[in-house]
Order: sequence, then structure tokens, then C-alpha cells
Amino acid sequence: MTTRKILVNTGGGDAPGLNAVIRAVTLSAVNLGWEVWGIREGYRGILAPDEFPNGGLVQLTKDAVRGITHRGGTILGTTNRGNPLKYPVQNEAGEWVEVDRCGELTAFFKEHDFDTLVAIGGDGSLSIANDIGLQSGINVIGVPKTIDNDLEGTIATFGFDTAIDFATECIDRLHTTAASHNRIMVVEVMGRYAGWIALFAGLAGTADAILIPEIPFDINKVVDKCTDRVANGRNFSIVVVGEGAKPIGGEISIIGKTIGQAERIGGMGQQVAHSLGELTGQETRCVVLGHLLRGGSPTTRDRMLSLRFGTAAVRAIAEGKRNVMVALQPPEISYIPLNEIAGKMKRVPLDGDAIKTARSMGICLGD
Ligand code: F6P
Repeated sequence: MTTRKILVNTGGGDAPGLNAVIRAVTLSAVNLGWEVWGIREGYRGILAPDEFPNGGLVQLTKDAVRGITHRGGTILGTTNRGNPLKYPVQNEAGEWVEVDRCGELTAFFKEHDFDTLVAIGGDGSLSIANDIGLQSGINVIGVPKTIDNDLEGTIATFGFDTAIDFATECIDRLHTTAASHNRIMVVEVMGRYAGWIALFAGLAGTADAILIPEIPFDINKVVDKCTDRVANGRNFSIVVVGEGAKPIGGEISIIGKTIGQAERIGGMGQQVAHSLGELTGQETRCVVLGHLLRGGSPTTRDRMLSLRFGTAAVRAIAEGKRNVMVALQPPEISYIPLNEIAGKMKRVPLDGDAIKTARSMGICLGD
């Protein structure tokens, strides 16, 4: 039996199912006689170990991962600010600058005999992991995570099912309060530049209009939809807005951008609600589901996907695969070269079945 030492980390925004992946990787690797170590908060456990009172690395034993399959979040912690290739540090003048600290990671992997990193992350984290693999020589096995479902090469990422399940329940709940008050309720959901969450939850939750980043919208189309409903005796409307949606000729609503971090998106729901209130004369409210979509216990489907991904990652290592991402390509879990997906985004196809479903049912998509 080959004894190996592998590392696991979780990067970017958390998603329900991360702990199930950590458990699946750990159990299947330990059952092969391997040592498994988790890095705390992305790569910060290696690059800033002093910030962790119990050490920047934690050994993942069977005991350490007991009873975590159903738990949201990540026992390792995560960050979307710790890109080792663009690590934010303050220079002598007090300005924040980005520096490449990959050399330190390479030295660490060599010194401690780590040969493989299982990187659990979304598009940003897997791109970073791919670059680290290329520069350091460590083998990287990627596991696709994100509630946004916007990763190329896999039909689904874990976290998405839990997010849409919760969003759908929220939209269901908004119907009664909207009807009771004769209101338009606007629901903003996460998703970055892709409209998967908005479209799926909007369809399942019976929204009247769904605005997604892939289809720039004309607010007058949404106004027409809401006023038609009133004319037809329907006194309320539900409008779901993907956070990355934008009006025709307009821009995505950005909250801010700090060094070493992706731009923060948000605010479009409120803008749409304001315009609808003005243009229809109907009382309008906005609800932002935001980080609630990332919380809670993973659904059965997400747990299954996470466990399948985690064990497949270990099988990939055992079979000698290098620099691949595990992917759901039904009915199988397959492997796809990391460099084929790095930096690519999977957006909602405009000729796809979900869009056709929405159009056939008369849901307004803002165009
Ligand atoms: O990528 C997942 C995601 O949830 C996006 O949908 C959202 O824009 C982003 O994370 C928000 O991340 P945070 O607020 O943690 O920086």
C-alpha cells in the first residue's frame, strides 16, 4: 500500500455540503492508510499560521470528521481574500499591495512531503488551485463547490440544490403576504454573473417575473406584467432578481471592491423595487435573501453529490490522475482537466430548457 500525505482546503464562499466532502475525502483516504491534513481558511493556515492558536493545519482523522455530513459551513474555515498568488499585504508606506507567495507554499509542500492537494472551491478557488499546481508541482484535485452553479464542466455543483430549495420556500412564503397587502414583492438572490438560482427558484416558486444576468431587462416589460395581473384580478406579483441582473444599456450593481477580493454584487433588487413602485403605483417591497442561501443543512441531493465528489477525488489520486476536477456528468462522476475549466463560467443557456419552460408558461424575463 502506498502511504500518502494529502492536504484538503476549502476556498471562497461557503456552501452547504463542504463538510460532507471533507468527511468523504478523509474517510476514504484514511481507509487507504493515507494521512489527511486540512488547511485552515484556504491557504492562510500555511501563509499566516500564527493567526491560528491551534495551528494552521489540522489532522483530519476519522474522529475529526465524525457527525459533520449534515452540518452547513466548513470545519476548516474559508476565505475569499487569501489568494496566495495575489496575497494582500501592507507595504512600508501603509498601502495595500498584492504579492505572489506561491514559493512559500511550494517550500511547505516539499518540506512536509505533501504530494496532493484536494481543493474544494468555486471558479475562483479552482483557478487559483490550478495555478498553484502548475507553479509548485503539487498534484491538485478539484472538487466543484458553489451555490451559484456557475462552474464549467459539471452539470451541478454541491450547494446549489440547498440554495434553490430554500429560495423556493422563501418565495412560497412571500405569496401570502404579497396577496394580503396587494403588493409587488421583489426577491433578490445570489448567483453572481449567472442566473441559475434566480431561474430555478423563480420557476419552482411560481414567480411572475424573473430577471437574470444573461438577459438584460427592460423594466417596462416587468411593469406591464404586474399591471396586467392587476387588470386580471391578481392583486399581487412576485419578481425574482438575480443579483447580477442589469437593465438594457445599464450596469450590474456593485457594492464595492477591495484589494485581493472579487467585486461584491448587490442592490439590484432594491433598484427594481423602487422603479416598479414608481411606475406601477403599487406598493412594493424588496427582500434580499443573500447569505441565507449559503446557510443551513445540505439537502439529501447535495449530501449525496458531496459524498460522491469527495470519494471520487480520493479514487482519482489512487488511480494516479493529476490536476483534474471531479465532475457530475450523469450518470457518472467523471474527471476533467483543471486547466480546461479554469477561468471559465457556466451561464444559463438562452436556448436551454429552463428558459423555454419559463417562456412557455408566460413568465416575464424582462425582454
Ligand atoms: O459565489 C457565491 C456567492 O454566494 C455569490 O453568489 C455572492 O455574490 C458572493 O458569494 C458573496 O460573497 P461574500 O459576501 O461572502 O463576499
